[in-house]
Amino acid sequence: MTEQHKDIYPVRDEFAQQAWIDRDAYQKLYRQSIDDPDSFWAEQAKRIDWIKTPTKIKNTKFSASDVDIRWFEDGTLNACYNCLDRHLEKRGNQTAIIWEGDDPKDDKTLTYRELYERTCQMANALKELGIKKGDTVTLYMPMIPEAAMAMLACARIGAVHSVVFGGFSPDALAQRINGAQSKVVITADESARGGKFVPLKDNVDAALTRDGTDVVESVLVVKRTGGEIDWNERDIWFHELVDKQDKDCPVEEMAAEDPLFILYTSGSTGAPKGMMHTTGGYLTFAAITHQYVFDYHEGDVYWCTADVGWVTGHSYIVYGPLANGAITLMFEGVPSYPTPGRMGEIVDKHQVNILYTAPTAIRALRAHGDDVMASSKRESLKLLGSVGEPINPEAWEWYYRIIGNSKCPIVDTWWQTENGGILISPLPGATDLKPGCATNPFFGVKPGVVDNDGNLLEGATEGNLVILDAWPGIARSIWNDHERFIQTYFSTYDGMYFTGDGCRRDEDGDYWITGRVDDVLNISGHRMGTAEIESSLVAHEAVAEAAVVGFPHDIKGQGIYIYVTLNDDFDPSDELKKELVQWVRKDIGPIASPDVIQWTPDLPKTRSGKIMRRILRKIAANETEGLGDTSTLSNPAVVEELIANRVNR
Ligand code: WT7
Repeated sequence: MTEQHKDIYPVRDEFAQQAWIDRDAYQKLYRQSIDDPDSFWAEQAKRIDWIKTPTKIKNTKFSASDVDIRWFEDGTLNACYNCLDRHLEKRGNQTAIIWEGDDPKDDKTLTYRELYERTCQMANALKELGIKKGDTVTLYMPMIPEAAMAMLACARIGAVHSVVFGGFSPDALAQRINGAQSKVVITADESARGGKFVPLKDNVDAALTRDGTDVVESVLVVKRTGGEIDWNERDIWFHELVDKQDKDCPVEEMAAEDPLFILYTSGSTGAPKGMMHTTGGYLTFAAITHQYVFDYHEGDVYWCTADVGWVTGHSYIVYGPLANGAITLMFEGVPSYPTPGRMGEIVDKHQVNILYTAPTAIRALRAHGDDVMASSKRESLKLLGSVGEPINPEAWEWYYRIIGNSKCPIVDTWWQTENGGILISPLPGATDLKPGCATNPFFGVKPGVVDNDGNLLEGATEGNLVILDAWPGIARSIWNDHERFIQTYFSTYDGMYFTGDGCRRDEDGDYWITGRVDDVLNISGHRMGTAEIESSLVAHEAVAEAAVVGFPHDIKGQGIYIYVTLNDDFDPSDELKKELVQWVRKDIGPIASPDVIQWTPDLPKTRSGKIMRRILRKIAANETEGLGDTSTLSNPAVVEELIANRVNR
């Protein structure tokens, strides 16, 4: 265990005093949410404007033979109405979306009224294209307000959106269009990211040459860059169709359990799974978590740096914030362009109060040194958030000290695409923070730790993280494959939702996520989280980033293979290798002694910044033949480099 793990950052009184939830409120409401979910969620459902108020609250079954999850099932509502219409009276002229372009000179704001009118026009346009309740629409878009509008327009007319991240390849897009059977695809000519243009429309054209995509009748194209594109009969300029539409559009009355969206996510095996989220429970859960975890207050400027192509963008750029009438910032570019200090500069420019980003972004900044934030003051910030992977204590401390000027609580939010919203996280007015620790379950979330046989473990312990009962935001199924849903999540441990993550529960009952269980190593019969070794390495001054995988080892069962990216000021050497080995041995113990260290300028990552350990494991194991599809990586070229420089033990 690293030293930092013992540090505690207690809740500050000033923060607790103004917070929605303080310690006592957390204890009381958490108990109620677990002991009497019906009364807790009936109360929380009041944050939604229902067309028909639900009387049945929770009706859920978790078992390997039958998974059937229904929340608020006799209620009806419209998600778009809740995000837009109901705010018009009070906040029609308040900013809904602040858009910051890739180029720092480009920005604009949209009020709730403007967003409403444009969304209605878009909904009418979709209707003109023949889209009806229950149809799916695939979105493959840049980070521009039209992406949020398109999602909301679908919701308005009862269509189910499937957003595909704009960094995916034509093949990946084709697979998802086919899976969702969308008649309409919405895209743009190009997206702009980091000063480069990504040919979205060309990619759609290419995708639509693939098998199984002839279902597509129309492609709606937003003009973003004006870049040159081919034009086909099915293509329609967004502005030509949308500008002429009526600025009002009636909402479709949806049952709480009608689907709101599909979002594909990759598992460790098989084709991507189209997670299906429904309307009432998802929206309630996105709204309550956004309000309490980020302690959102009226008028706060809130910035989540995710892309709308991921669930974080769905729940915490669009649905959660807009349901709460918030000001949500949408950033088109990458945090390091045109200069590494851009993120801080955006915070100053728009006076951002709440910043929600990913550990990988924080580590990338930290590798530049503390001066990287010198171009901004970030005095408007009052809360920071982290999501996507375990945040190592070193990165946490840096985030706290350098980005947050040592005055902002950090909420380390653990959740998954399947979950709809945050499940384990500090509440900033209620929870003492521990760097690298996700701490406590959110209201209505009942985590458990099981051993490999599914026995529930008590007290301070370590094992597999499961969730023992349903919460409103959980995905209801995999699109068109309920069997696979049950198989993937409910068959490992009958009656429990298996997260695929490992965790440790400490003496205080706080949860530390140790990473995917398939990444947990077993060294001579000792379990060890790769995240733990990585944390240790990143705490070394020379290390920018490290990835640890297991590889087959004759004696120990598994050995430890480490890929290391060094900070700018350090060069690879055998001495440094020895030093790092000693460092880890000293920090964690001889059992964690690294067997192999390979230097690398970069790690293979998904577009969302997740390290592709599958590839690293194969290279470490010298199984470089069947690496599978590497086209969806953000940096495919690094794979060859890694193979060429593989270290033989
Ligand atoms: C996996 C889910 C929905 C969030 C974006 C990623 C890892 C996520 C944390 C965290 C430790 C985390 C887990 C989880 N993860 N947040 N705060 N601490 N690990 O969504 O792509 O569905 O990935 O991300 O391993 O299972 P996702």
